[in-house]
Amino acid sequence: MSNPSFNSITPMDLASHVKEYSYNQSAFSKLENRLFEKMRAYDEKYGAYLTEHLKRTSDQLFLVLVTHGLSQTDSEKLKQAFLLHDVGKILQPIALWEITSGKPSDEKKKERSNHVHLAQRVIDETINELGLDFSDDDKEHLKTIHYFAKTHHERLCGKGPLGWKGGQLDKVLRIATIIDEIDGKHKANAHTGLGHIIDVLKSDKHSGQFDHECISLYASVFVKGLTPSAKAGKASFARLAL
Ligand SMILES: [Fe+2]
Ligand SMILES: [Fe+2]
Repeated sequence: MSNPSFNSITPMDLASHVKEYSYNQSAFSKLENRLFEKMRAYDEKYGAYLTEHLKRTSDQLFLVLVTHGLSQTDSEKLKQAFLLHDVGKILQPIALWEITSGKPSDEKKKERSNHVHLAQRVIDETINELGLDFSDDDKEHLKTIHYFAKTHHERLCGKGPLGWKGGQLDKVLRIATIIDEIDGKHKANAHTGLGHIIDVLKSDKHSGQFDHECISLYASVFVKGLTPSAKAGKASFARLAL
């Protein structure tokens, strides 16, 4: 049995990548279920968050993509892959993620961001535990899973863990980073309205980090009063995907 290794991931267009394959859903369900068991054990110690965060953010990614013109099938593949993006956190000490007053130090931020690298180990160990063998098309879906796990903290300005910038972040990844950041900000400030969080993302505080057009795509789906127009949405997705 040989499973592929994705230690060195290079930028790709996720929307094009997922069009290229179909995958063994039952094998990936086994992997997902086992990883969720491990994450639930983590949540029992930390307090319920990780599993719910992953479900919420992957559901939201699906909704934004479908609303803005990606097919149900492709959006579903991306949702299933994004569902595992933070799994590397289970290898980190719980205390690292506890919310404390004041801003986390740069050292703490760097240590936290290491979960993007640890994900590979958790996923690969679990695949081996279950005796799964992902080759051919399955390998491509595994690549999508590893891709999200590794890149979801990248920023357009290059300040993410891998230092990717600008065009290295494709449109789906840009949207995923926004969804992830907004959900995290909600956790830290439970009483802050979504509109305010979006304003913060667009403000100087996050200057150069997020694609404002992608923030608008998100807002058109989730901010009350901004009803998405299916036609306009498709046009905007197509324009950004190319
Ligand atoms: Fe993360
Ligand atoms: Fe996350």
